[in-house]
Amino acid sequence: MEKIVWDDSYSVGVKSIDFQHKKLIDMINSLIDANELKVDSEVISDTLLQITDYADYHFKAEEKLMSEAGYPNLPEHRKEHVFFKKKTVSLLVDTFEAKDSVPEDLLRFLKEWLIDHILKTDMQYKEFFKEKGIS
Ligand code: FEO
Repeated sequence: MEKIVWDDSYSVGVKSIDFQHKKLIDMINSLIDANELKVDSEVISDTLLQITDYADYHFKAEEKLMSEAGYPNLPEHRKEHVFFKKKTVSLLVDTFEAKDSVPEDLLRFLKEWLIDHILKTDMQYKEFFKEKGIS
């Protein structure tokens, strides 16, 4: 599977959020590497847990920023974060129970959801934050 390559089109114009998105992308890329190298399943499990933990931290930070700025689309945005958390929990359970590699559908979900969410949903607040002077 091809790794995600960060470029400026991913920038939402807020340094802390761009930093967190880059870190999530790095973590998913590491998982893609680990999976292809067929490394120990413990490494894969640890990496998966780190991704879900960090995604949780990121969602809270992003929602706090949106809330403090009075972003009107926060409720809809939050629903996507909740969907991601629920979906990853169920996929993680499947992975831990039986597999020594990450199922293709889990890797694909992590990669495609993150790219789609950043470029479509997160990007919707870019102008709003810019107008508020938040960078
Ligand atoms: Fe950057 Fe809405 O997650």
